[in-house]
Amino acid sequence: MPKVSPAGLRRSGDSKSSLRGYWVRVRFIIRCNTEYGESLAIVGSSSEIGKWNVASRENLVWCDDGTWQKTIDYYRDAEENLDVEYKLIIVRYAGTTQVCWEDGLNRRLQHPTVDVGCVSNVCRKEVMVFPDYPEWQDYGLKKFKEVTFSTAGGVLSFNIACAKASHTDMLSTFLTGLRPETRARYGAHPLTAEYAAEACDYGSDANRLKTHLLIISPGPKPEVVGYILMDQSEITHEHERYRKLYNTHLESPVDIFFAPVMGDKYQNRGIASSVIPVVKKHIEDIRARSIVLLGGVQQTNASAVHFYQKSGFHKYGEFTWDNLVNVDMRLEVR
Ligand SMILES: CC(C)(COP(=O)(O)OP(=O)(O)OC[C@H]1O[C@@H](n2cnc3c(N)ncnc32)[C@H](O)[C@@H]1OP(=O)(O)O)[C@@H](O)C(=O)NCCC(=O)NCCS
Repeated sequence: MPKVSPAGLRRSGDSKSSLRGYWVRVRFIIRCNTEYGESLAIVGSSSEIGKWNVASRENLVWCDDGTWQKTIDYYRDAEENLDVEYKLIIVRYAGTTQVCWEDGLNRRLQHPTVDVGCVSNVCRKEVMVFPDYPEWQDYGLKKFKEVTFSTAGGVLSFNIACAKASHTDMLSTFLTGLRPETRARYGAHPLTAEYAAEACDYGSDANRLKTHLLIISPGPKPEVVGYILMDQSEITHEHERYRKLYNTHLESPVDIFFAPVMGDKYQNRGIASSVIPVVKKHIEDIRARSIVLLGGVQQTNASAVHFYQKSGFHKYGEFTWDNLVNVDMRLEVR
């Protein structure tokens, strides 16, 4: 079975190969109470997971946090159906290899989705699956290339893409060029060249649950006109604030932290409002639950508060941080 290295995955981000097909990265994190001598594996319909041949199964790796994990990267031609069927199996070696299949219907991996499942099976195991966020950049090229927005300022046309290595300079120019008034409104992370490099390193572990969405002007000299961080990881202080102040329990990865910033000359032209439906559709596709403003929004940031309310976010309450009053807002999609 051909194995794809993370480096190979990143190389696929060049526009030529992306247009021909898709790299998909799926991370399985599975809780399963195996017994000593047993291991967990995946076998399924595609060649990467053995074509239903147990001998070619993909074995998962036992991790210290009590889960079995595996990242599988695979490539599909643009025309090919991305759906993959699979089952989890428990493998035990006792002189010969014994296999215990989970019962029920085959699991199905549809892209881009997050498959959150729970099965009880012949092995009496509880299994929870969180395949990873797929590489949105490639879907982006297919689904969102040349999104045309009708805004108050006329018809504007931009591309939406996930940050990847080739965007590093462009994102750095955007972040470092923002004027002080805009920077003062954005507290989610530093707006620096170093951060741009981190954001564009899709292969890094820290980015496993993050999407750095770029809104890019078309034409011979494309530039980033807007940037949105979407973070599915657990951010302890944010989760704690929601729990303490609002008795609301946020959960990773289904509650997604959100932090947008538009370029100075592109603000208040309806661009972020036009991107929101695309983001909402994606959130529904991956079966997430809500979008939560990372660190809230400053109470005095009237245009942003208006924008969020107009986009369907609800106010949860207020908190003070660094002598500034911030408003917690969240958009629930289910
Ligand atoms: C907040 C932000 C992301 C919104 O993106 P955007 O593309 O400018 O948003 P839109 O143009 O789609 O919508 C802005 C809305 O605010 C309105 N608005 C502008 N100034 C306003 C003001 N002073 N008071 C109230 N509403 C105002 C606009 O009229 C528009 O609403 P409308 O479509 O009903 O007319 C962007 O303005 C920005 O990057 N601001 C600086 C950084 C920031 O504040 N980030 C958010 C951190 S939480």
